[in-house]
Amino acid sequence: MSLFAPSCLDDFLINNSTEREVLELILSRQLPFPFNGKSGILLHGTYGTGKSTLGFLLPSLLETAYAGNYPQTSPIGQMQVVEDAIPEIFRCGGGLSSTAIVKQITMCNSRNPFHHYGQTDYFLFDEVDKLTVSAQQSLKSVMDLKRCQFIFTTNYLDRIDDGIINRSFLIEMNQSADANAYVSIGQSILQKMSLVSTALPVAAITAIAHKAKGSLRTFASDVMIAGVKLGGRLPQ
Ligand SMILES: Nc1ncnc2c1ncn2[C@@H]1O[C@H](COP(=O)(O)OP(=O)(O)O)[C@@H](O)[C@H]1O
Ligand SMILES: [Mg+2]
Repeated sequence: MSLFAPSCLDDFLINNSTEREVLELILSRQLPFPFNGKSGILLHGTYGTGKSTLGFLLPSLLETAYAGNYPQTSPIGQMQVVEDAIPEIFRCGGGLSSTAIVKQITMCNSRNPFHHYGQTDYFLFDEVDKLTVSAQQSLKSVMDLKRCQFIFTTNYLDRIDDGIINRSFLIEMNQSADANAYVSIGQSILQKMSLVSTALPVAAITAIAHKAKGSLRTFASDVMIAGVKLGGRLPQ
């Protein structure tokens, strides 16, 4: 994992506290998952807000939660991955057909997923909007199977089939309303570059965040460039 990569729930900016709480309840195992017909977590929002990064991290965070061998005293938002999950990853787009998807998920469902503490398989669909309508619709039936946890990401919620939306917990990831959240991320980047956290004034970090319009890809790059200009180091 790269030095700058987010590694726990607290590293991500989730505006809606109710939505974030659902993730906390699942990770702290107060809420079973799948739960009441909902077997998906659907991360949606604008470009570069960390949806794919969180999507790829979630199976391992869930595994760590199910394994239960992390320091229970620290807040769940700070839980770091201790157990790696092996998710089935579907990079959507291209020729990924409904038949291929259903076949793979059904095959996984018929074997004993004892290699996971969660006793389930993790299915990750990055940019699920790129699936055809029929492929999206075919997911409805497999989402009702036991022992499956689905994680979806999309930039375009309006292109997602209602059946998937209905079976998922929605987590919006857009520009944070909290300017301080960007200041903390910016300062932590500066520190990782061997600079003091005040190397860039708070107003400068806030201005970079404002310009990035929610994209952490743009924000983090611009802070790093500013940091390099101030003599900071990036790992080669
Ligand atoms: N919380 C974060 N802190 C710092 N960098 C982040 C954070 N979330 C994402 N990034 C970085 O921003 C970039 C874009 O993230 P990504 O997950 O691909 O966004 P999305 O899928 O929403 O378009 C990646 O390089 C990632 O490492
Ligand atoms: Mg993405």
